Amino acid sequence: MESELSTIADPIRQKIEALLRQCTEQYVDTGQLREAVRYALLNGGKRVRPLLAFAAADACGDRSEYLPYAAAAVEAIHAYSLVHDDLPSMDDDDLRRGKPTIHIAFDEATAVLAGDALQTLAFEILANAPGTDSQIVKSIACLSKASGGRGMVEGQMLDIQQVGDAIDLEALRLMHRRKTGALISASVILGGLSVVDVKSAQLSALEEYADALGLAFQIRDDIIDQISSTEVLGKPQGADQALNKPNYIDLLGLEAATEELNSLHQSAKKALMIFGDSAKTLHLISDFIVQRLH
Ligand code: IPE
Ligand code: IPE
Ligand code: MG
Ligand code: MG
Ligand code: MG
Repeated sequence: MESELSTIADPIRQKIEALLRQCTEQYVDTGQLREAVRYALLNGGKRVRPLLAFAAADACGDRSEYLPYAAAAVEAIHAYSLVHDDLPSMDDDDLRRGKPTIHIAFDEATAVLAGDALQTLAFEILANAPGTDSQIVKSIACLSKASGGRGMVEGQMLDIQQVGDAIDLEALRLMHRRKTGALISASVILGGLSVVDVKSAQLSALEEYADALGLAFQIRDDIIDQISSTEVLGKPQGADQALNKPNYIDLLGLEAATEELNSLHQSAKKALMIFGDSAKTLHLISDFIVQRLH
C-alpha cells in the first residue's frame, strides 16, 4: 500500500488482527476447526473492509469502543466468503494470499465448516460487542442483508449460474454489486453506525461513496486478474478466463473497463465532499483500490 495510507492503516490492521485472534479464542473451541478458522482469517489479507469501517468512522468524527468489533465482524464474513469461493464446487482455486487454500491445506469438509463458523463468528462478535442495543441491531441488520440472499451469497449464485454465458453489462454490474459491492458498502456503513450521533446526511454520503467504490473494487479485481501476476496477486492469475467467468475485461476490454473504473472513482470521491478533511482516509483508500495490483 502507498506509504501515506500505510501509516494510517498499519496500526488499524494490527488492532483488528489482535481482536480477530482474541475472538477466535473466545468463540471457537480449540482443535482443527479453530486452526482452520485462523488459517483463513489470520493469513495476510489487505484488510480493506476494516480499514473502510475505521475511515468512515473518522469521516463522521469519532472512533468508538464499538468500532473495532464492527470492523472485525465484516472481515470474518469476508474471510468466510473467500473460503467458500475457493472450494472445488465454486472457483476451485488452490492458492489464496500466497498459500494453499484451506480445502487443500486441510480438506473440503473442514473448509465448508470453517466458512460456516466464520459466518456465525461475525454475528457473535456483533451481538456481544460493547455498543448500544440500537447500534448492534442496526449493524446485524446491515451485515446480514449485505452477506445473504440479497447480497454476497446471491451475487455468488449469479456468478456460478452465469459461467460461460454472454451476459450484458447491466447483469454483470448487478452481479458485481452483489457479490463484492454489498460487503464493501456494509463495511463503510458499519463504520458510520459505530458513531452514536451519526447524521442521516453523513450516512447517505457514505452510502453513495460505498456504492461506487464497491463496484470499482470488483472491476479492479477483474482487471488485475488479467494484468497482474500470480506471485503479486497471491492467487492464480487468469482464473476468470480459465473458468469462463463473466468479467469486465471479456465484456468491455481493458480500456473501457478502466474508464468505468475511473469514473466510479470520481463518483466515490465526489460523494465525500460534505466531510471535508475528515474523509482523507476514505479518499486514500479509494485511490489505492483503483490502482492496486493485488
Ligand atoms: C478478494 O478480496 C475477493 C473479492 C471480493 C474481489 P480482497 O482483494 O479484499 O482480498 P484480501 O482480503 O485482501 O485477500
Ligand atoms: C469473489 O469474487 C467474490 C466473493 C464473494 C468472495 P472472485 O471469485 O473474483 O474473487 P477472487 O478473485 O477469487 O479473490
Ligand atoms: Mg468467485
Ligand atoms: Mg474466486
Ligand atoms: Mg477475481
